[in-house]
Amino acid sequence: MVGLYAGRIRQYRKVLILEKYVINGATTLHGEVEISGAKNAAVAIIPAALMVDGVCCIENIPQISDTDMLLTILKELGAKIRYINKSTIEIDARNATYKDAPYDLMRKIRASYYLIGAMLGRFGSAKTTMPGGCNFGVRPIDQHIKGMTALGADVDVKNGFVYADARDGRLHGARIYLDKVSVGATMNIIIAAALAQGRTIIENAAREPHIVDLANFLNSMGADIRGAGTDTVKINGVDKLHGGSYAIIPDQIEAGTYMVAAAATGGEVLLKNVIPRHLECISAKLRETGTIVQENEDSVLVKGASTLRRVNVKTLPYPGFPTDMQPPMGTLLCLANGTSVITEGVYDNRFKYMNELRKMGAEVQVDGRVAVIEGGRRLTGALVQACDLRAGAAMVIAGMCAVGTTIVEDIHYIERGYEDFVGKLNALGADIKIVDFPDNDDSEKIISVV
Ligand code: EPU
Repeated sequence: MVGLYAGRIRQYRKVLILEKYVINGATTLHGEVEISGAKNAAVAIIPAALMVDGVCCIENIPQISDTDMLLTILKELGAKIRYINKSTIEIDARNATYKDAPYDLMRKIRASYYLIGAMLGRFGSAKTTMPGGCNFGVRPIDQHIKGMTALGADVDVKNGFVYADARDGRLHGARIYLDKVSVGATMNIIIAAALAQGRTIIENAAREPHIVDLANFLNSMGADIRGAGTDTVKINGVDKLHGGSYAIIPDQIEAGTYMVAAAATGGEVLLKNVIPRHLECISAKLRETGTIVQENEDSVLVKGASTLRRVNVKTLPYPGFPTDMQPPMGTLLCLANGTSVITEGVYDNRFKYMNELRKMGAEVQVDGRVAVIEGGRRLTGALVQACDLRAGAAMVIAGMCAVGTTIVEDIHYIERGYEDFVGKLNALGADIKIVDFPDNDDSEKIISVV
């Protein structure tokens, strides 16, 4: 069943119980881990399935709250969702209709912006909330709006909602230059343009693996999209998309997180079901720290070094070092000998988690988009917060490396994006328990859950 927050926030006798991770540290990870389907591909492919005039069978959907919420939104719009097994789902949106979607869900996730493109493509109109998601400073959607407007939609943002209407009922192809390399805008325009009349060209497009995956999904349903994975994407609009089957690629960032966890704990982990080419930017940096990374056809073996070396990291759009790997790497560099500098090249404010690492003994100076880490410190257990999804993963890695016990709060962020994080880590030798801590101030904290 599709369950919202099937993960770790739930209502219990009208009192919200907040669960936390309790991590007994100083563990070393050993063994094998299977990587799930890519979150950031799945959260675009699920909305795109709304445009398909047939049954889509999608394999390798990660079981995380972000995909649960999107599937629930599609169901509310009239799509039929059938689970074939835990990661394979059939979506039949033939009877979906344009209506008010569950806005309380939409505003919780960033990827709800893909419903603008999908609803415009399918119905010629869309009404969504302004997207939610992790808070890394201002995250505008002006490039999405620019794209939809160029395709012939009137777009209006008011009272926290985005209203978009195709001026003559259907979108028309256009040439769109993105002022900023944006993953979301590139994918949203690809979705909307798939059913537009005529040819769309996106210039200065983002090139992430999940963009190629979205294009491959749509092409396998009858779309005509070329150049995904380069900075120029060409979409010849088609009249209809037909049903079919598709398997989502493995998650680059989930894999990278386990690679860093293996390196940070000085362990040895074989990651299965990965595409090593997508991990090259992460493997290269880990090798600079002295970590051994061996690539096989669809697996990667990571062996931690006895002493980690300092490195400098600059995050950039793909194929650069991913911003989503910055927090796990930040934790690792607290352990590496010497001074490391991290420059965040994508977001204005993605170093909040450094305050949490400081509670564990890390020595870090942050100035705007630059963090200077004096490494080689032994981390010690503390009560820390998951400030967002990847920052939460960074705290868990820190907790596994630290001496003593670490308690991580706000774990619902982590469960938005990592399938069975605790189960997978414990199978590798971590000691993490999910513990209910009754919330004394429940009146303030009842969060809408289903
Ligand atoms: N930006 C604009 N205007 C726009 C769109 C983006 O100025 O219209 C700016 C952003 O503020 C940011 C930069 O451009 O500074 C790049 O943003 P992008 O649009 O590429 O990011 P996104 O689509 O909002 C997706 C992922 C993020 C990941 C980024 C970068 C999803 C749902 N989210 O966000 O994933 O960090 O691309 O790779 O796909 C995560 O998984 O933890 C996560 C945050």
